[in-house]
Amino acid sequence: MIPSLREVYKEHFRIGAAVSPITIKTQKDLLVSHVNSITAENHMKFEHLQPKEGEFTFEQADEIVHFALSNNMVVRGHTLVWHNQTPPWMFYDREGKVVGKELLFERLKAHISTVIQRYKGKVYCWDVVNEAVADEGNDLLRISRWSEIAGMEFIEKAFLYAREADPNALLFYNDYNESFPEKREKIYKLVKSLLEKHIPVDGIGLQAHWSLTRPTLEEIRLAIERYASLGVQLHITELDISMFEFDDHRNDLIKPTDQMVDKQAERYDQIFSLFKEYSDVIRNVTFWGIADDYTWLDNFPVKQRKNWPFLFDENHQPKPAFWKVCTC
Ligand code: G3I
Repeated sequence: MIPSLREVYKEHFRIGAAVSPITIKTQKDLLVSHVNSITAENHMKFEHLQPKEGEFTFEQADEIVHFALSNNMVVRGHTLVWHNQTPPWMFYDREGKVVGKELLFERLKAHISTVIQRYKGKVYCWDVVNEAVADEGNDLLRISRWSEIAGMEFIEKAFLYAREADPNALLFYNDYNESFPEKREKIYKLVKSLLEKHIPVDGIGLQAHWSLTRPTLEEIRLAIERYASLGVQLHITELDISMFEFDDHRNDLIKPTDQMVDKQAERYDQIFSLFKEYSDVIRNVTFWGIADDYTWLDNFPVKQRKNWPFLFDENHQPKPAFWKVCTC
């Protein structure tokens, strides 16, 4: 009998996993044993929920929410506003011209209100805005349809509409590369400026798509402290530890080397020890999957290259990393 992760961490934070309608079936054994928080990997994104204006398709998101609630798990809602996976109709009017701010906000409000109200009392927090900050350069915001049409205002409106739709849901800003100093400072600056304007941001999501060496432990610590200094809650929202460094594009490995497996275990050990130190502010640690038989990293950054980023292997057996995380 192996220990349940959520039991091991119950005094610290929730343990979560991202799922799809397929993985709630194929990985059900691990999910029901180890997690108490669920995120839809894709099925609550804009293009899934409202592919055509006014036509909402909730079936698959409902299935995921039902799975979570019937297994005593909470649901993290992901995500209401993103530059990716938003259907093109959102940005064009009937003549095919790019919309102005007013129409964009009208559509944004309709989307956010409809989605949040459907899951009121069922989804306990929302990644309201995802990845709006630019990775490089002097600009604070990423160039996207959203920022081109509405500057910073789309972020402010999204949080205001979300709070109006469900005053009890926790509202998060979520981003990646969150622990690298340059982007960390931009995310900090963005959330600080929102809070100064009394925009209701309750938390920051650190996606945590990390490798065996990067970001360093010290960079992660500094990011946690910097964000926590804003007085908001933190969630680790999309954790995975790639076996490959970010710039390693080779695709000839059939299985990870023993050295990689050991290094990953050591890395998970250090990371969870660090999270535990901050469990007064880190309230949820969600993996972007649960076992190595399915990960988005199998197609990123190299198409069809297998990766092994989780605590459980392709046969759902615990890896050395699992035992480290249970005992750190
Ligand atoms: O569903 C279609 C399928 O019908 C088609 O045959 C197939 C062919 O490529 O594509 C399938 O859609 C894919 C979808 O995932 C479902 O698997 C898309 O191509 C693919 O682009 C999409 O990728 C998702 C990605 O977001 C989109 O940018 C990943 O699964 C998902 O893990 C990833 O999640 C994001 C978070 O939302 C935000 N943070 C980063 C994270 C990783 O990129």
